[in-house]
Amino acid sequence: MLTINVLDADCQSIDIFEVVFLKKIGVFVGSLRKGSYSKKIAKVLVSLLPSNIEAEFLDTGVLPLFNDDLDPNGVPEWNRFRNQLDTLDGLLIVTPEYNRSIPGALKNAMDIGSRPTNHFGGRVALVVSDSIGNAGGYGANHHLRQTFTTLNIIPVQRPEVYLAHTDTMFDEHDMIKSEGTIGFLQSAIDAFVKLLYVTSLSSSVGEFLDDSTDPLSLTLGKGHYYHKNDAGEIVAEIKFNFDTPGAVTVTSTTVQPELRGKGIAKQLVLKVIAMAKAYQLKIIPKCSYVESFFKTYKNYADMVQ
Ligand code: FNR
Repeated sequence: MLTINVLDADCQSIDIFEVVFLKKIGVFVGSLRKGSYSKKIAKVLVSLLPSNIEAEFLDTGVLPLFNDDLDPNGVPEWNRFRNQLDTLDGLLIVTPEYNRSIPGALKNAMDIGSRPTNHFGGRVALVVSDSIGNAGGYGANHHLRQTFTTLNIIPVQRPEVYLAHTDTMFDEHDMIKSEGTIGFLQSAIDAFVKLLYVTSLSSSVGEFLDDSTDPLSLTLGKGHYYHKNDAGEIVAEIKFNFDTPGAVTVTSTTVQPELRGKGIAKQLVLKVIAMAKAYQLKIIPKCSYVESFFKTYKNYADMVQ
């Protein structure tokens, strides 16, 4: 068992088991049909997940059609859905093919979750396509992956899962009859889980250096990086000065309560690290959060003066 001590912006200890090992995924079923084979496949896949991964089925059928005119406030169903997406580490998407593409309800959900800011970014996803025909929804599978590029969703590349002849796949208990198919689906789930953990571990040690994966847009001002809410108030901020030659001294890191738990304090520090690297400066931590950051993420130790 790991015994790493992680501290949040208030320097409160966070249970590493919760941070690293417990994951939550959202399950999307492309078909709204009551007797949907895709839904039955999704249930089997969820039953193959390890017990530390919680799965929540997301109902795309309740989402009104996306209309850009109604944002940024959106409609209640959209906002509930976007909030749900923010709690997820991964996505399991099981979809039939409709006319060589994905069903409209699924595309609608992707469009809603992409606005006003992208709520899918950085999530790992397993795509499973299916069909009563021979091709196993190949066209839908790849159209979906095309949207992943712009949404910055990280797909499980292999195994590719195209399930054909779904109308003869299940027994009277909605279980998949073929043990071979179950074994294959287990291998897909194993690849998904592995990617879920590899990605979350790597993102915790520096992927946020890339601006495109920042959870929050930060502005560089004189002596600080900050983010303002719609009311113009600063809600996340890291302050620094250049009083010591050859170094940047960090004096405070502040994240308002409503933004906590999203890795924003870490993002603020990484922003300063990126700046210090660009200017070839060391960092003097004069703030308890930054001190604890360097104790936790030892691969940045050479940045500290
Ligand atoms: C289909 N189906 C279908 N199948 C396929 O292999 N390629 C396709 O392009 C299409 N297109 C298509 C369009 C529409 C509107 C419907 C309703 C169906 C057949 C499809 O594979 C079958 O209906 C599945 O059973 C649908 O999945 P669920 O509802 O069982 O999850």
